[in-house]
Amino acid sequence: MSGHNTQLAEIIAGLKKPDKMISPKYFYDERGSQLFDTITHLPEYYPTETEFGIMRDNIDELADLVGPQASLIEYGSGSSRKTRILLEHLHDLAVYVPVDISEDHLFSTAKKVRAEFPGLEVLPVVADFTKPFALPNPAIMPLRNIFYFPGSTIGNFTHSEAQQLLDVMYQEAGEDGAMLIGVDLQKDPEIIERAYNDSAGVTAEFNLNMLTHLNREFGFDFDEDAYSHSASYDDEKGRMVIELVSGRDQVVTNGDESIEVADGETILTEYSHKYTLEGFAAMANRAGFKVAKVWTDDDQLFSVQYCVR
Ligand code: SAH
Ligand code: AVI
Repeated sequence: MSGHNTQLAEIIAGLKKPDKMISPKYFYDERGSQLFDTITHLPEYYPTETEFGIMRDNIDELADLVGPQASLIEYGSGSSRKTRILLEHLHDLAVYVPVDISEDHLFSTAKKVRAEFPGLEVLPVVADFTKPFALPNPAIMPLRNIFYFPGSTIGNFTHSEAQQLLDVMYQEAGEDGAMLIGVDLQKDPEIIERAYNDSAGVTAEFNLNMLTHLNREFGFDFDEDAYSHSASYDDEKGRMVIELVSGRDQVVTNGDESIEVADGETILTEYSHKYTLEGFAAMANRAGFKVAKVWTDDDQLFSVQYCVR
């Protein structure tokens, strides 16, 4: 089966579940990547600015921990905004490997990064990082692999999926490898809910754009206008639950497939898990990592964690 057909089968299987769901990776067509970028500048969306601040405040210590001639492999690189701090400060970086599923956005970002850092080898990889994929061979032999996973994208996976991702990173990192990861923390639910229900409605547009993407690229016929955005915090599970809610009965078709949708029925499009420092350390430990250093902001909203083998 081609990649496109595998993805289509995966989407249909999710829509046929008793509780309909679609993976958040389908947010990210070109428009979805742009909308996410806009989200990162919203006043309510605290994770990006907070993570940026933590990186800026601790970049010298971080660069010394990473050491010279590393290979920086970034999962879900998006617009590589925070990465630029690393590219500026890491010592004699051997290569930068941004990995993302959003192809056009990845290549245009890689082009900009190359222009900004002319001496640096940039080797973008279009891949779904939840599936096995090959890493490219750099021209300069790196001394160690650093897996960079910022933005709390880890939070978009269930605990068992997240565990699997950390397990794979541990294996791929190799003997001297490390992981640098941004992890959003549990806090006052009001702050969290506000971040996913912004007053400008950009998060709603980002959520709804998933249906536009599925209709255009995968041949569905969702009535997008009938859907609305819903985002609420599940305190017990420590996660945001982001859904699309249909405002009417509809039958969604794709080739021979037809999916009945009831008025008020939801499609789960994303979880965004928030961790405690202890909870994340336990998961990293199970993968084999030791959390060597944790940086947070003064309000303990967000954490940046350096994990070694
Ligand atoms: N790292 C950036 C972007 C985070 S948004 C930041 O911290 O701001 C999440 C990014 O991960 C998007 O660019 C999206 O396209 C990518 N992504 C999500 N799921 C993915 C998957 N399964 N495989 C590859 N990339 C994925
Ligand atoms: C990419 N990811 C970590 C974002 C988050 O906060 O979970 C995606 C997002 N969804 C809605 N707003 C932002």
